[in-house]
Amino acid sequence: MFESLQAMPADAILGLIAEHRDDPRANKIDLGVGVYRNAAGETPVLATVKKAERILLETQCSKAYLGTAGDPAFNTAMQAMMFADAVPDERLMTIQTPGGSGSLRVAAGLLLRARQNTTVWVSDPTWSNHVPLLGGAGLALKPYPYYDSDKHIVQMDAMLETLRAAPQGDVVLLHACCHNPSGLDPSDDDWRAIAEVIVERELVPFIDSAYQGFARSIDDDAFAIRHLAELVPEMIVSNSCSKNFGLYRDRVGTVSLLAANAVTAEVVSSQANSYVRTLYSIPPDHGAAVVSMILHDEALRAEWLAELDDMRIRLQGMRALLNDALAEKVPERDFSHLVHANGMFCFLGITAEQVARLKKDFGIYMVDSSRINVAGITQENVDYLADSIASVLS
Ligand code: LMR
Repeated sequence: MFESLQAMPADAILGLIAEHRDDPRANKIDLGVGVYRNAAGETPVLATVKKAERILLETQCSKAYLGTAGDPAFNTAMQAMMFADAVPDERLMTIQTPGGSGSLRVAAGLLLRARQNTTVWVSDPTWSNHVPLLGGAGLALKPYPYYDSDKHIVQMDAMLETLRAAPQGDVVLLHACCHNPSGLDPSDDDWRAIAEVIVERELVPFIDSAYQGFARSIDDDAFAIRHLAELVPEMIVSNSCSKNFGLYRDRVGTVSLLAANAVTAEVVSSQANSYVRTLYSIPPDHGAAVVSMILHDEALRAEWLAELDDMRIRLQGMRALLNDALAEKVPERDFSHLVHANGMFCFLGITAEQVARLKKDFGIYMVDSSRINVAGITQENVDYLADSIASVLS
């Protein structure tokens, strides 16, 4: 039976982890997968996560099943972090999921349970796994314009025009902040304009929030979620704690569904829990238990927010560092869009051939689209990086 299967190519992003690891060159640079790195190029466990894990080790007294929704205390804290008091809790339900991908997959299944021929509009471009993940689940996907690769700006007018023509009831996938891959986000006023079209066309917002705290702050980065929640009857939010708690491999996320009223919210909740049972039964606990402990403990929470600030500030610094180095080494070209982007990513704006040369000749790894993760930049490697980019551009 398995003989009928064809070998698949490596994942466009995750495949780079092994390629970079197996490269013997000492000066290699990893600008590929979206993980945070500190000034030493490491992805350490956050100090607050370590503290919470020590407490858990001493206090956790059972590993018995928690159920399809995971830990209710975690879910309550996450819901508050995203929605604050934008809507009454009775219209909302949040359940724990295995990371952001698990959350997106649960959301996809629920959308299809609700309506079999659901179309989801996705930004062009979007995270490279959105399309196989949501499309593979059975959703029809259509693109809306988002990134102008010549001017390196968000094409707000074209985006709004496309959404204005979307059929009533269609779903619109939006990135809450730190758009992956471009790093360019709508301003608060842009979000107001997007929300207006969503309300006018009766579209359903589906927000992917994987970087809360990496653009401005925990509260500012929830602007789109809270603003839309105040205006629409229904919405979906997929959340990931991979980046802001550094819990990548522990798989921590949530899916939240906003319903028009409390009665429907109860029905949606029962559907979500029954759907999860058919998919993976119960989400993994450890990472969510850590997050819950941090969010419920005032001192730990304050310390975690400071760690998040440090990560955000370092990323902004590395953007400026690379822009300055490129301004010196490639003066004929403007890379200033690097500093206007948020979070980990932005496009370098070079061709796939130039990306391939950076990998082959210089050991510099990035996604073929020239998306770079600026966390891979350090004071030590920035000159080599800029020289290498200058060399493939010449
Ligand atoms: C990324 O975009 O690099 C991350 O979200 C990791 C992933 O799963 O692709």
